[in-house]
Amino acid sequence: MKSLFAAHTLGSLTLNNRIAMAPMTRSRRPDHIPDLDTAEYYRQRAGAGLIITEGTFVSAEAQGYADVPGLWTDEQAAGWAAVTEAVHGAGGRVFAQLWHVGRVSHRSLQPGGAAPVGPSTRRAQAQVWIGDDGFADTDTPRALRTDEIPRLIADFTDAADRAARAGFDGVELHGAHGFLIEQFLNPRVNDRTDQYGGSVENRARLLLETLDALADRVGAHRVGVRLSPFTLANDLPADDEAEEMYAYLAPELARRGLAYVHLSDLRLSGGPDIAEDFLKTFRYAYDGTILLAGGLDRTRAEYLLTADLIDIAVFGRPFIANPDLPERLRDGLPLATPDPATFYGGGAKGYTDYPRH
Ligand code: FNR
Repeated sequence: MKSLFAAHTLGSLTLNNRIAMAPMTRSRRPDHIPDLDTAEYYRQRAGAGLIITEGTFVSAEAQGYADVPGLWTDEQAAGWAAVTEAVHGAGGRVFAQLWHVGRVSHRSLQPGGAAPVGPSTRRAQAQVWIGDDGFADTDTPRALRTDEIPRLIADFTDAADRAARAGFDGVELHGAHGFLIEQFLNPRVNDRTDQYGGSVENRARLLLETLDALADRVGAHRVGVRLSPFTLANDLPADDEAEEMYAYLAPELARRGLAYVHLSDLRLSGGPDIAEDFLKTFRYAYDGTILLAGGLDRTRAEYLLTADLIDIAVFGRPFIANPDLPERLRDGLPLATPDPATFYGGGAKGYTDYPRH
C-alpha cells in the first residue's frame, strides 16, 4: 500500500515522502528578490517530500501582484540560489512555480504602465494587490499578437534557465487559477481566431508549446504543470467544454513524460471543484505522477493514495502554520491554525515564527 510517509521517486529525484508543500504567494519581497527570510521560511519546511515555491513571475510583464519574487533577472536568481541551498541542506527538494498572470493585472504593475496582456481584450472582474495603494480592479488587457507568442514562451524558458542555474530541482508551470495559460484554455476568455484560439487543440496549444519548450530546456522530468479544471478563479467563466479539454490534454501530457501533473482544487464554492469521477477518468488517461491540492487532511490524503487516484498529496495552508507538517501528520500531533491576516505581506510574523512541535 502506498504510504504518505514513504519515499517516492519523481523522475530522477527521490522524495522523502509523498507530502508536497503547495505554491503559496506570501508577498514579502518588494524588490522581487528572495532574501534570507525567504530561505529560512523554505528551510523550515524542507521536511516536505517536495516544496513548490510561491508563484514566481517569469517577466516584468507577467506581474499581477506587488511584492512577489521573480526569475527574470540574475539578481532574483541569486536570491533563489540561497533558497535552494537552504532546502537542499535540510534534505528537501524544491521546484519553482513559473507564473504569468495574463489579464489579471493592473497598469501600475506593468512595464511603462502598459495594459496587461491576455488572449483577448476581455477584462477579468477581479482585484489585484498593487502595493501601498491596496487592491485595485484589473485593467482591460490587450490581446497578444500571434507573432509575440514565441517571445512569451521564451520568457518562460529564460526563467527556467535561471531556475536551473539557481539550483532548483525543477519548475512547475502555473497553468491554473484563471491566469494566462488557463485564460487561453477557456473558450469564453479566449476568442482568438489564430492557431491559439477556437478548437480545443488550438486553445491548448500555448500550454503544450510552453511545456515542450521548458522540457527542451531543462528536461521533461524536471517540468511539472499545475492545472485547475473547473475553477472559476479570477473571473474565469464556467467552461462547458472542460471535460473535452481534459480528455484531449491527458494523453498529450502523458506522452511528454513530465515530472507530474498537479491538480488544484480551490473549492471556491465550498465543496470540491474536482469530482472523484473526474479524477478517475483523468487517472486512467494520464499514466504519469499526479499531485492533488485543496483542503486535504491526513485521512483524505490517505484515502486518495490508497484508491490510487493520486501519487502525492499537496498541503497549502497547513504548511504555513506547521513547518514540520509531515512529522505532525505521521505522529498524529495537533495542527496549528494559520493566521490569514499574515498570509500576505509583512515580515517574520506569520512567516518564519511558527514553531515546530
Ligand atoms: C495560495 N495558492 C496558490 N496557488 C498557486 O498555484 N500559486 C500561488 O502563488 C498561490 N498562492 C497562494 C497563497 C496563499 C496564502 C494561499 C492560502 C493559497 C493556492 C494553494 O497552492 C493551494 O492550492 C490552496 O491553498 C489549497 O490548499 P490547502 O490550503 O487547502 O491545503
